[in-house]
Amino acid sequence: MSTDPESLILSSWQTNAEPWITAVREARIESRRLVTDHAMLSAIDARRPQRVLDLGCGEGWLCRALRGWGIATWGVDATAGLVEAARISDPEGDYECLDYAAFSQQTPHRQVDLIACNFSLFGAEELERLLAALPAWLERPGHLLIQTLHPHVACGDEPYADSWRAGSWAGFDAAFRDPAPWYFRTLESWVTLLHANGFRLDALIEPPHPLTGKPASLLLAARAA
Ligand SMILES: C[S@@+](CC[C@H](N)C(=O)[O-])C[C@H]1O[C@@H](n2cnc3c(N)ncnc32)[C@H](O)[C@@H]1O
Repeated sequence: MSTDPESLILSSWQTNAEPWITAVREARIESRRLVTDHAMLSAIDARRPQRVLDLGCGEGWLCRALRGWGIATWGVDATAGLVEAARISDPEGDYECLDYAAFSQQTPHRQVDLIACNFSLFGAEELERLLAALPAWLERPGHLLIQTLHPHVACGDEPYADSWRAGSWAGFDAAFRDPAPWYFRTLESWVTLLHANGFRLDALIEPPHPLTGKPASLLLAARAA
């Protein structure tokens, strides 16, 4: 088995597709239920897009919600079991099974006006290649929304510096196995990465968790330059 962290991310999602579908569809993840789903939906709504690319769409909840608002969506995800679940729940929807490496190598063949990444960017070099490819898929003014773990909350006791971290399913039920490593980025690193790839930060949103008082996520809203 590969020990390359980017490959381990993909294999972990294959392993955990079924419990993930259950967790999302039964609203078992408190921070999503209380905060982060709404944060992403309201950030999208504020930008009034007509065509949204949901990168790392998972089982498709965000595409389904947006399609309910009349927005055309395109969901892309590498995990076949998740894409299949998305298609079954939304047969008229547009879902594609593709990993970010393959996506980044494509010549853009359609345009969207907003790209949403909801807790779907965990890699290092692969993420850098993906971000470099994204501006070409965006019609101007093109928006990019990235919701991710808040670095100040997720840092724990380790140094506040970019690095691969061991994964954990703490707080998830026992059906989850083989957590994948993930690449920790500081806030400065996220902003630098966006700027280096032709995006300008529009807003930095830190939605508070009502029970902990800490940010439930970091939501970066950027625009293609
Ligand atoms: C935490 S889930 C989030 C799914 C969805 N965005 C949501 O909000 O429920 C992370 C998703 O990212 C996808 N993903 C991770 N790395 C990927 C890659 N390299 N290429 C494509 N999809 C990837 C996984 O398959 C998984 O569906």
